[in-house]
Amino acid sequence: MSNYHIKNLEEYFQVYRKSVRDPENFWEEVAEENFLWRKRWDKVLEYDLSKPEVSWYKGAKLNITENCIDRHIYSRGDKTAIIFEPNDPSEKAEHITYKQLHERVCKFANVLQDHGVKKGDRVCIYLPMIPELAISLLACARIGAIHSVVFAGFSSTALHTRINDSDCKIVITSDGAYRGNKTIDLKGIVDEALESCPNVNTVLVVKRINSDIHMKPKRDKWLQPLLDEAYHDCVPVLMDAEDPLFILYTSGSTGKPKGMVHTTAGYMVYTAYTFKNVFQYRENDVFWCTADIGWVTGHSYIVYGPLANGATTVLFEGVPSYPDFGRFWEVVQKHKVNQFYTAPTAIRALAKEQLGFSEKHDLSSLKILGSVGEPINEEAWHWYNDNIGKKNCPIVDTWWQTETGGIMISPIPYSTPTIPTYATLPLPGVQPALMDENGNELKGNLVSGRLCIKFPWPGMARTIWGNHDRYRDTYFSAYKDKYFTGDGALRDSTGYYRITGRVDDVIIVSGHNLGTAPIEDAINEHPAVAESAIVGFPHEVKGNALYGFVILKEFGETRVHDNLRNEINQIITEHIGPIAKLDKIQFTTGLPKTRSGKIMRRILRKIAEKETGNLGDISTLLNPEVVQEIMDGAIS
Ligand code: WT7
Repeated sequence: MSNYHIKNLEEYFQVYRKSVRDPENFWEEVAEENFLWRKRWDKVLEYDLSKPEVSWYKGAKLNITENCIDRHIYSRGDKTAIIFEPNDPSEKAEHITYKQLHERVCKFANVLQDHGVKKGDRVCIYLPMIPELAISLLACARIGAIHSVVFAGFSSTALHTRINDSDCKIVITSDGAYRGNKTIDLKGIVDEALESCPNVNTVLVVKRINSDIHMKPKRDKWLQPLLDEAYHDCVPVLMDAEDPLFILYTSGSTGKPKGMVHTTAGYMVYTAYTFKNVFQYRENDVFWCTADIGWVTGHSYIVYGPLANGATTVLFEGVPSYPDFGRFWEVVQKHKVNQFYTAPTAIRALAKEQLGFSEKHDLSSLKILGSVGEPINEEAWHWYNDNIGKKNCPIVDTWWQTETGGIMISPIPYSTPTIPTYATLPLPGVQPALMDENGNELKGNLVSGRLCIKFPWPGMARTIWGNHDRYRDTYFSAYKDKYFTGDGALRDSTGYYRITGRVDDVIIVSGHNLGTAPIEDAINEHPAVAESAIVGFPHEVKGNALYGFVILKEFGETRVHDNLRNEINQIITEHIGPIAKLDKIQFTTGLPKTRSGKIMRRILRKIAEKETGNLGDISTLLNPEVVQEIMDGAIS
């Protein structure tokens, strides 16, 4: 049908123009085409971006799991919904059909209900990439509970902050996780976190690694025996279009993580639509997104988008380097993957290894390659294109965010000519704007500025859990009636967008969004530390890495202790997780500050990037002398 599956560039422009001229009509037609609505909407869109309040498909009733599972059972009951590829390649892959998925989700939903979980309750999920992770999201959605997945690489402190922020009373976890040749004691991390979560009364534990863990009486229960007893069907709870579906935390420029709230109908329509078009999905394609379901990429393009289309989605427990650097390609060959979606950091890591790892596998099933999470540099793009796509697979460089729910700017394969490092054109229904520092929109092409979106789209987050003011202040106050993304971008002479990176205090490390403030807060907890500032610097594999400038309480001489460095990284690991560890730590007696006491990160950034030839004006600094000291002590 016309709105689904754009076939060429001309059609893209037609559909795009239509979507801008009459967004309501456009999104109404998309919603009418392909979903199961228990009651039709009264109004497609109602919005006021000054508040901001946005509702899509108001008045509609639905359950997203009926759309992702039940409605496929008649036509595709025995089709594989999820292929589970375990960490260990010698463990058998599991194929879960739509029928089986239905039963497993229903049973799980019944277990949750038996434990008192009701519509609107928050459920924290802290699981490795195993089928129960996808199933637990869907089980929550089945009964209208709001899932809050915390990536299983986060520390116990990060976990308890998130559990408490949204007041979860139940946690779903496992006895542990496999990660390459290591195991991770997830249950131990949960136990530690729960010492600070008085309201959690139930922990459901999936058995995965058969480790000998402590089960706290009354609170902790093994999941499997409960599932075995549970009834195999569960009536889906009818949801309003704008009922919350999930919370997902993202870091911001202040210490506290932001619980982004996504709602039911708009998110469903948006992820389904973008999945189908960006990946040109066809019935019987096998789709693999290598992200973890703990990030929005996994929510939208492992679980909801593919399943809403009745697709087969691969859920991979392992890592790209185990048992060797050929693992991704082995899995592509084994499951005849048609669309492969990964992050530039993974591509760069694999590009460093011998070509033999990809050459020895048959990659001929691949049709489309995707990239997400950070800008993809030209070298990585070419490596991906030449060695994986064999110059025969369009690469979709997809720009989006946790907040946007789904892909916003991306080529549409076979329609949009691609250029390395360009995310190219906005998807239908997406209206980007580039703004200058004075709040004026930059019209025309060949401009660069701050990337905003000037009209609502169905997948947008509606609020920050428990803090709507922060939602407004963070995203809708910089530019009137526009959503500010935090990214900079340029628009070239043909109207293509290229994302140039964050313009705020967020640093993307290996595709993970890290706020500098939470990391600084963690470091400052160290008894020897007086103050700290974190900046990013370019890194071959991670894209960016973190450089910390740290003032110690006891001066006299700058103590350049490796011990202290380890302790600082240890604290960061405890507070946030290993992903936030610093690559470089420089001890200094001061930090460059403005007269109002603000740290001049611009200067620190230049030093970290080794671009000290052009530090800009430092005369307004309160303490210009410290700049020389920091330059002299910079870590190469
Ligand atoms: C930030 C959002 C989108 C899901 C994963 C990350 C950066 C994302 C691209 C891209 C350049 C990108 C942006 C964005 N980013 N995709 N294709 N090109 N930059 O979600 O953790 O919310 O991070 O990732 O800076 O704002 P997230």
